[in-house]
Amino acid sequence: MIIAVDGTAASGKGTLAKRLAGHFNLAHLDTGALYRGVALRLLRCSEDADISPDLAASEARLLTLDDLNDPDLRLENTSAMASKVASIPAVRQALLTYQQDFAKHPPDDKDGSILDGRDIGTVILPDADIKFFCDADIEIRADRRYQELISRGESAKYADIRAGLAARDDRDKSRPIAPLKPAIDAIMINTGHMSIDQMVKQAITYIV
Ligand code: CDP
Repeated sequence: MIIAVDGTAASGKGTLAKRLAGHFNLAHLDTGALYRGVALRLLRCSEDADISPDLAASEARLLTLDDLNDPDLRLENTSAMASKVASIPAVRQALLTYQQDFAKHPPDDKDGSILDGRDIGTVILPDADIKFFCDADIEIRADRRYQELISRGESAKYADIRAGLAARDDRDKSRPIAPLKPAIDAIMINTGHMSIDQMVKQAITYIV
């Protein structure tokens, strides 16, 4: 079984994917971490605000598992940089095969795979067995991200978080390559007024 989960920033897609992976014994890949990993490498190797597409693509090819476990991966400036590098075609190309191989060759003890991101159902895995697209009002998503940062002991301002999410959504939706949009066969889940358990329960009803 191969499941694609896409959605807007902080819509709950990562949480949904993780929970479905546990429930159905699937290998899970958070593809946002790949773009965040490239962003971190760039933030550390270049002071330049203008990202060079060549440098970004070569950093994408050098990505390691250590990068994907870096504690700075989910900082707000990493998020903003991730959505900038994600609009560079050579970066997306460099990360494409890894994602498709992950989905098609889960470890032997797993019964399939689940990937979450922005273009999983449309570009990476157009033949996925099930596709979900998560969304919720921006205020709700901003509040969730704010609570997440505060609970990790980081300082955060709600207005800045909201503006950052809106800017990323706009950039992700309007880029010419692999824009954020639901696949035509995606099941839409509005996670806004649901608890995590309710969201997971609803998704499971479409799978079994
Ligand atoms: O967790 P959150 O929804 O805030 O973000 P994420 O899923 O970690 O993704 C970070 C950024 O990476 C997004 O804003 C996108 O620009 C980019 N991304 C992408 O373009 N394609 C993907 N498959 C996953 C992430």
